[in-house]
Amino acid sequence: MSSKNILVTGGLGFIGSHTVVELINAGYFPIIIDNLSNSDLKVLDGIEKITGKKPVFYNLDILQTDDLEKILNVNNISSVIHFAAYKAVGESVEKPLDYYYNNVSGIISLLKAMQNSNVKNIIFSSSCTVYGQAADLPVTERTPLIKAESPYGNTKKICEEILYDFSKTGNVKVVSLRYFNPAGAHKSSLIGELPLGIPNNLIPYITQTAAGLRNILTIFGNNYNTPDGTCIRDYIHVVDLALAHVKSVEFINKFTDNYEVFNIGTGKGTSVLEIVNTFENINFVKLNYSIGERRKGDIEQIWADCKKANSLLGWEAKLDISDIVKDAWNWQKQLD
Ligand code: NAD
Ligand code: UD1
Repeated sequence: MSSKNILVTGGLGFIGSHTVVELINAGYFPIIIDNLSNSDLKVLDGIEKITGKKPVFYNLDILQTDDLEKILNVNNISSVIHFAAYKAVGESVEKPLDYYYNNVSGIISLLKAMQNSNVKNIIFSSSCTVYGQAADLPVTERTPLIKAESPYGNTKKICEEILYDFSKTGNVKVVSLRYFNPAGAHKSSLIGELPLGIPNNLIPYITQTAAGLRNILTIFGNNYNTPDGTCIRDYIHVVDLALAHVKSVEFINKFTDNYEVFNIGTGKGTSVLEIVNTFENINFVKLNYSIGERRKGDIEQIWADCKKANSLLGWEAKLDISDIVKDAWNWQKQLD
């Protein structure tokens, strides 16, 4: 039987920390690698408070292949969940080389270390950004991919291709998870999202505006071809997303092929105005907002077909946008 030791790169980040909690809840032993470039050591305390267990943590950059290899060997790792990457779309346009180096060289370093230490299973954080604006909705895993809008998006596409090519050698088994829009926080409010500077994403911008850290939320356009004119996305609660990783670890141990890709969303599209209204109604908070110009590069609408994840992973999202805005707001309130 394979070991229950799972290496989690970027395990102190937003999605990584929630996944570590759910792995522990499911009886796994997560071992975290993070260079703290976008996270804080305090997250480890939050994980311990929730689960009663403090996972092993290495402050390491995934570009350090030799050290990675030692960690893989010493800890008898059965699968790797790979979150460590830079993720700010705007910053990737300003600093493309930093993004290609960290995200693409990073995965190559990790795969070399895995090959050298004979670790076969990897679960990768991809993104719905690889679909761009699809002609037909919802998008399935067979929807054609388009040229990426940003260097960040391109790193996800390139990493999927590297993983696919490497899987064909028989050296690894790969599960690529294409996340839709992750949001929310753990219901304990002990872990959540910690955006650096001004948030780009909708939900942290809303909670910071409600908390008085931002004056006003600008809704980027209300003249799209959607029922209320605002953009539509598929918002997925971070705890549901974390559970998709636990299911993927179970799946990757059993499946006989070398490469699978899954959409991880709720299957439901929600507009920006619906999110704003739900936030106000669930939390009894009035939000200061106005309608502004469209944001360059935004797609009009996307949501996921998740039937493949439902049937092969045995996973489906259980939480909805009410849970997302409630948990995100509770997390924000205790940050103040
Ligand atoms: P995050 O920034 O909160 O977490 C990433 C973690 O990786 C951070 O703790 C950071 O310190 C660490 N890290 C970065 N580079 C590293 C390196 N070279 N070595 C070691 N550690 C490193 O981001 P997140 O929101 O938790 O996202 C996790 C993954 O999911 C990323 O790959 C991201 O691109 C992907 N993703 C995120 C979203 C989203 O909206 N949050 C959507 C789709 C895909
Ligand atoms: C972002 C990323 C994308 C990633 C996806 C999933 C960008 C440009 N793209 O896209 O690469 O795959 O998350 O995590 O960052 N909005 C406002 N006002 C705001 C902020 C957002 O109206 O202040 C709107 C946006 O126009 C969009 C929706 O809210 O319609 C969601 O925005 P955001 O949270 O940034 O996610 P995505 O645009 O889907």
